[in-house]
Amino acid sequence: MLRRVLYSSKATAGLGMRDALDIIRVSYNRNSQAGLTGGLLFLDGYFYQVLEGVGGAVETCLSRISRDPRHAEIVTRRDERVSEPLFADDWMALRGIDDVEPEVLSAHGYEPGLPIERFGADQTLAFLLACFDKQLVEELAPTLATTRA
Ligand SMILES: Cc1cc2nc3c(=O)[nH]c(=O)nc-3n(C[C@H](O)[C@H](O)[C@H](O)COP(=O)(O)O)c2cc1C
Repeated sequence: MLRRVLYSSKATAGLGMRDALDIIRVSYNRNSQAGLTGGLLFLDGYFYQVLEGVGGAVETCLSRISRDPRHAEIVTRRDERVSEPLFADDWMALRGIDDVEPEVLSAHGYEPGLPIERFGADQTLAFLLACFDKQLVEELAPTLATTRA
């Protein structure tokens, strides 16, 4: 089994896509060594990240990430055991506002920070996957269909 964590966080003021690219460069190296995969979405000063892999490796990486001064207000949105990674081919993929179709934002009722009162765990994951053009092919899919209807 793998562990998959999805969290959101608020980027430190002034952080831009260039900084996100710096994060990705390091993450790519470190994650490939640790067998971790995932996606990082950087929108309107907020990060949303999926990190998946063997439990211990995910834990070690998350503890580094949680001490990183480039963001704060880290909120775990999902933390689960899964059989298949969503990002099997990406040590850490990156998407920014220019990579996401405006239709995806409006279809999901996007608001900066995805406020928790409005965006439950399933909606947050569904939004993130849509931003990465990915489909959820798991036991969770029926739940999402119901939530969205
Ligand atoms: C939003 C965000 C996401 C990050 N994601 C990863 C990641 O997936 N893997 C990783 O190794 N480091 C990630 N980092 C960077 C780590 O916090 C840390 O800087 C990096 O792993 C190097 O750690 P070290 O300086 O202790 O070697 C992320 C940082 C931020 C702010």
